[in-house]
Amino acid sequence: MCGIVGYVGHRPALDVVLDGLRRLEYRGYDSAGVAVLDGGGLAVERKAGRLANLEARLDEVGRDGFAGTSGMGHTRWATHGAPIDRNSHPHRDTAERLAVVHNGIIENFAALRAELEAAGVELTSDTDTETVAHLVGQAYAAGETAGDLPASLRAVCRRLEGAFTLVVTHADEPDQVVAARRSSPLVVGLGEGETFVASDVSAFIEHTREAVELGQDQVVVITREGYTVTDFDGEPAEVKPFTVDWDLSAAEKGGHEYFMLKEIEEQPTALADTLRGHFADGRITLDEQRLSDQELRDIDKVFVVACGSAYHSGLVAKYAIEHWTRLPVEVELASEFRYRDPVLDRATLVVAISQSGETADTLEAVRHARGQKARVLAVCNTNGAQIPRESDAVLYTHAGPEIGVASTKAFLAQVAANYLVGLALAQARGTKYPDEVAREFHALAAMPDAVRTVLERTEQIKALGRELSDAKAVLFLGRHVGYPVALEGALKLKELAYMHAEGFAAGELKHGPIALIEEGLPVVVVMPSPKGRAVLHSKLVSNISEIQARGARTIVIAEEGDETVRPFADELIEVPAVPTLLQPLVSTVPLQILAAEIARSRGYDVDKPRNLAKSVTVE
Ligand code: G6P
Repeated sequence: MCGIVGYVGHRPALDVVLDGLRRLEYRGYDSAGVAVLDGGGLAVERKAGRLANLEARLDEVGRDGFAGTSGMGHTRWATHGAPIDRNSHPHRDTAERLAVVHNGIIENFAALRAELEAAGVELTSDTDTETVAHLVGQAYAAGETAGDLPASLRAVCRRLEGAFTLVVTHADEPDQVVAARRSSPLVVGLGEGETFVASDVSAFIEHTREAVELGQDQVVVITREGYTVTDFDGEPAEVKPFTVDWDLSAAEKGGHEYFMLKEIEEQPTALADTLRGHFADGRITLDEQRLSDQELRDIDKVFVVACGSAYHSGLVAKYAIEHWTRLPVEVELASEFRYRDPVLDRATLVVAISQSGETADTLEAVRHARGQKARVLAVCNTNGAQIPRESDAVLYTHAGPEIGVASTKAFLAQVAANYLVGLALAQARGTKYPDEVAREFHALAAMPDAVRTVLERTEQIKALGRELSDAKAVLFLGRHVGYPVALEGALKLKELAYMHAEGFAAGELKHGPIALIEEGLPVVVVMPSPKGRAVLHSKLVSNISEIQARGARTIVIAEEGDETVRPFADELIEVPAVPTLLQPLVSTVPLQILAAEIARSRGYDVDKPRNLAKSVTVE
């Protein structure tokens, strides 16, 4: 949801900023813009559409005014105002001496805009951001904060409502870039004689791995020498330094046409890294646990809250947590959770799952839960993001940076982490003996190899994807843990191939969806193990024969050696035999490959599906 980057150093700022934007483009790609401080002037260029459009525009107008060594840039996911040139960031004040880029939403912008218009300011865009440019410009020009850029920004921040990260530059201040943070993420990168600010570390990872995570309501000033941080009142504030544990190669395509294809292949590593270090001396451990075992024993109900693919990982978690702990588990879309008055108290555990750790719906669900005294455990892929910061316990997935907008390796890592949460609860509550916990963990530890086996079938699955690329719609069916897998398979196809796709609980088919079956309609069926869930297996075989009899083209994901299902499968994709609860870790993978290949054959950008953004920091 909007990527922002700022730089002060010794290199040409334009190159640094454009490189940073390239790595942040997953956050939004409705428009892009840059501002560079050069010889007492402020050069700004911005363009609707992808970063490539901005670069083409810079080539067209020439890069003459852009030779300075401080500047900033923005890649946008539109909220206020259509994605057109004049709504693209940076926005400037009337004097065109100051520029602002912004991630988030200023909720009181209508009142601020009215105030500016009443004072005779002519606004040139439909955005909330432009109001900030004028307000900071005015504060810098006259009054108490005149000539003091950080103080001017602080004064304006105190008036803003909503979630925002802002970066501000002024033509009179070529040696500093100033930024503010409330809720939306912001990190500082510390190099030799150069300093960065960005929405995430990928923007500067090629220059430095030393970073600082800003806290809530803080303003940072970066210079060539380093940084200073205050709160919105100007008081010195505490920040969290950290070293990034991955490097540039992890954020690059590594010979793949798309990041997503690389990320699908990285899944065995993502799983292994997520499990690593969490089982020692016969015990499961989390990363940060500010909850005692006694508090975990007192839990009498679990809610899982998340959005998108993370929500589907939560649906899988329900089966495992209920089975292992005997605790009731409800899984809820984060955007619905706090608006229906859920029954929460200090004996409720809320598991908040988020790759980015900044999804606004999930963050607000966490805040609501904590406000009701519930305990919150975050499952997150981003170190120090807002959701883990506000939670009582944290388990990090170690999927590494995920750039493809459609989640793959982060999803699989979430599923694995959720199993660890289930085992940690079972261990604390004594619903599993230590040797049983150990057995389950070792079964999990074998999953990276099982996923590797599935990946060996990539070419077979891609060939099928190419055949299906003309389909009008695809249905996905599953039962038990295969049901969330069906939902995830359908979501992948919708978001990547813009194809009508629906996931159904196979047993529900006869209650309505069977009416959709017509000659040649592809139906993907996720089979349970014939040994693990024999009853479900035979029921699903009946479901397949019902749809096959009505002309559907059946594509069956089944365990190796499952001969019973073979006659009912027009296409069979075999996955290795694994314990029942762990099946989503293998059966999701073919569906990811299928969706990516269908999208590719239809000529779509697999990494950047239309209208989507990787992390959505508005409700
Ligand atoms: C967006 C992304 C999805 C993701 C969801 C939740 O909608 O496009 O891929 O699953 O947000 O994101 P989170 O960062 O909270 O896991």
